[in-house]
Amino acid sequence: MTLKDKNILLCITGSIACYKSVDLYRELKREGANVKITVSSSAAKFISPYIFESFGEEVFSDDAFKSPLAHVSLSKYADLILIAPATYNTINKLACGIADTLITLVVSASQDKPKVLVPAMNPNMFSNKILQKNLDSLIEQNFYVVSPGIGGLACGDFGEGKFPDTSDIMFELESVFKEKTLKGRRVLITAGATREYLDPVRFISNASSGKMGISLANEAIKLGAEVSLIALNIDTSCQYINKNIRIIKCKSFADLKDALLSEFKRCGILLMAAAVSDYSFKEKSSNKIKKGDLNLNVELVQNEDLLKALSEMKKEEQIIFGFAAETDSVIENGRKKLSEKSLDYIFINDVSKDIIGGDENEGFLINKTGEIKTFKRESKNKLAEELLAEISL
Ligand SMILES: Cc1cc2nc3c(=O)[nH]c(=O)nc-3n(C[C@H](O)[C@H](O)[C@H](O)COP(=O)(O)O)c2cc1C
Repeated sequence: MTLKDKNILLCITGSIACYKSVDLYRELKREGANVKITVSSSAAKFISPYIFESFGEEVFSDDAFKSPLAHVSLSKYADLILIAPATYNTINKLACGIADTLITLVVSASQDKPKVLVPAMNPNMFSNKILQKNLDSLIEQNFYVVSPGIGGLACGDFGEGKFPDTSDIMFELESVFKEKTLKGRRVLITAGATREYLDPVRFISNASSGKMGISLANEAIKLGAEVSLIALNIDTSCQYINKNIRIIKCKSFADLKDALLSEFKRCGILLMAAAVSDYSFKEKSSNKIKKGDLNLNVELVQNEDLLKALSEMKKEEQIIFGFAAETDSVIENGRKKLSEKSLDYIFINDVSKDIIGGDENEGFLINKTGEIKTFKRESKNKLAEELLAEISL
């Protein structure tokens, strides 16, 4: 809830995508932000300010002379200025320091406030060199820009310029308010469940959804890290995954081992949130085994302990954070794993409590000095935030 009680000034400029700012407004309110709204004259042709007034909000029109000094009071009010959608016209004006509308005037009076632009326009307008140059110059002056989506637009053209998904914008806003404690760090995260195949269609696996690992990856991005996610059989549509996360798709224990061996040496922090199979089939058929041909006493072999192997390769400055699922003697087993695998941290999920696959989690964190911290049931996103804050760098 990074946006709770934050004052957001939502500035809407004249794009065909103006109606999408209503969804954005509602999401901001859901997250507990206070919102004031400014609608440019062109935007007022696409969307009626009455929509926001009927939600009980005060809407400021573009005529600065109607409400004298509104630009000063609004810039003082705002913890963050969000221009969404941001037109070609307004972006270029801002870059040149023009202040002839209420929105551009507010920005001129808000040097010290974070400002987020959400460009939305025809792909030819977006790729226009004047706009790109001005966006670069605004980024240099600490403006944040949410990249537009790629796809079919209202004008019938296809390309980059679509108003981004609300979740991408919310992600950027939350990031703005976070201290970049992991800036310059490479974080490697594993998530999901391995599949050990018997033949091309049959496998053994477990119920891990990968949600905890995705929450950790999103949070690490917000903290400024460079993040790679080894995704094991994850349904990527089940949860928001930030597009700056590099995804390496794997299926089996063997794939995971290969990926870890090639990625581990380059990472500073490894978060092993995946549920890795302890066994695989001794023999694997490359063709589907016909019904009746299967030997019902299939033989399993034990997989190597990857965390232990990686701990042996670990350089002093690297941090390894393990996750374990236990149903009994939870803390005792956690301590044992921490020391056997020489981990820096271990988070133990008590999976007897219906956690696997859900949106919430609870458990215990043990660090290498043996200190234990209890985490009560909460969303996996919130837990990810708290766990990453525990890592001492
Ligand atoms: C039908 C129509 C759709 C438009 N859609 C966009 C758009 O999506 N993005 C954009 O940058 N400008 C768009 N424009 C142009 C802007 O509305 C125009 O440049 C206006 O001056 C912007 O003023 P403002 O930046 O103060 O809101 C559109 C214009 C019209 C007539």
